[in-house]
Amino acid sequence: MNPDQVLINIAEKIASCNKCDLHHSREKGVPGEGPSNAEIIFIGEGPGFHENMQGRPFVGAAGDFLVELLDGIGLKREDVFITNVVKCRPPGNRDPAPEELKTCSPYLDQQLQVINPKVIVTLGRFSMARFFPHAKISEIHGQPVQVKGMLVVPFYHPAAALHRPSLRSVVEEDFASLPELIKNAEKTPAVQSKDPPEEENQAEQLRLF
Ligand code: URA
Repeated sequence: MNPDQVLINIAEKIASCNKCDLHHSREKGVPGEGPSNAEIIFIGEGPGFHENMQGRPFVGAAGDFLVELLDGIGLKREDVFITNVVKCRPPGNRDPAPEELKTCSPYLDQQLQVINPKVIVTLGRFSMARFFPHAKISEIHGQPVQVKGMLVVPFYHPAAALHRPSLRSVVEEDFASLPELIKNAEKTPAVQSKDPPEEENQAEQLRLF
């Protein structure tokens, strides 16, 4: 099956998913969007109000800022894949619960498997924690780490800079470093395994891709 079709199939599963309680309050599942051969994937936290209504990631204020940051480094949102660790909106924009993160995780595993990006940029602490469960974002943001053949770069969430203006220049500097990181990152070999990984440690899981 071609990669575009695999992504469509994943999106269809998300649209009708009822594996956790978030499906009760969601308007639309938000699988993510972008080319199946994207070199870079941005992973946010979860859909907010506008994303839930439109079924598209990062279309509210944080999305506008993300587009601005991408523009600053010569990228358009259509050039990259954008998704979240949870695909349905936590009510009232509360933090995703551990059980929701765990239940939703295979969808992201499968997207990563198909897209096989050069660089994974995590936006905010929830997507960072998927790869670095015990890290502090204030200590590791902007520092690329090779995780089982993929370059993972933890960034602050764009919304954090909207709430804390002092973070804006930090976020802009982190983004400014991306083109060089992308240029130097090696594309990992094509995926062999079709099964979503099941171990607890997400960094360990990526070995399978
Ligand atoms: N914040 C996120 O983390 N994801 C979105 O899609 C929108 C806002």
